[in-house]
Amino acid sequence: MSAVPATGGDNGHGPRHVAIIMDGNGRWARRRHLPRVLGHQRGVEAVRRTVRAAAELGLSALTLYAFSTENWRRPEDEVAALMGLLKHFIQTDLEEFARNGIRLKVIGDTSAFAPDIIAVIDHARARTAANTGMVMTVALNYGSRDEIARAARAAAAKGAITVDSIAAELDTADLPPLDLIIRTSGEVRLSNFLMWQAAYAEMLFLDVLWPDFGHDHLAEAIAEYVRRERRFGGR
Ligand code: FPP
Repeated sequence: MSAVPATGGDNGHGPRHVAIIMDGNGRWARRRHLPRVLGHQRGVEAVRRTVRAAAELGLSALTLYAFSTENWRRPEDEVAALMGLLKHFIQTDLEEFARNGIRLKVIGDTSAFAPDIIAVIDHARARTAANTGMVMTVALNYGSRDEIARAARAAAAKGAITVDSIAAELDTADLPPLDLIIRTSGEVRLSNFLMWQAAYAEMLFLDVLWPDFGHDHLAEAIAEYVRRERRFGGR
């Protein structure tokens, strides 16, 4: 019998694919009378902790909502700061991902991004393309309605529009089914994130602000998922 991870992973109980709406960076900063950008900086550290934890806890896929189609409406300097943080994060953490077998995937329309950001993303994707460990998907300029509309158009171009033909064209078609969505900061909304994929996912809305999120929150979320599966299981 092969060893199975204690919590997540392919053990028939734990989630394989977890997605996170990383919310609360601004409130974290405001509570400390700090600029919003500092909240986002701390948010990146939470991303780093969470990616490490997700791999350690045996997830096959971790999907993070980093920039929505609505985030362009934020002040120009905040958008620029988020782009800078994203670029820096990929540049500094890429080698660790690569070494740990993580594959980087991006969903959403990055064509609107500056050429230097697109180049960094393309390089990271290519560098980790052959990796077979956890898939870390970053949703950038992503919106679920846009994704579903694109998938429906692609399905129609090939033939019949059915649930399966649309599902096959979604940006996430190559990922395991979504098991669990976590949103931090106490807000209880999907905000145009993975709405199709969430049809059968468990949802967990946590009171922690994203910059405070870490290994133990993810481990506890996985444990809660396992408890729910035990209660309502049968899938
Ligand atoms: C929500 O906080 C968070 C965001 C809009 C961006 C999330 C981005 C990061 C954590 C950093 C970059 C990402 C990666 C993958 C390196 P908010 O500003 O909406 O918080 P608020 O609701 O409290 O104002």
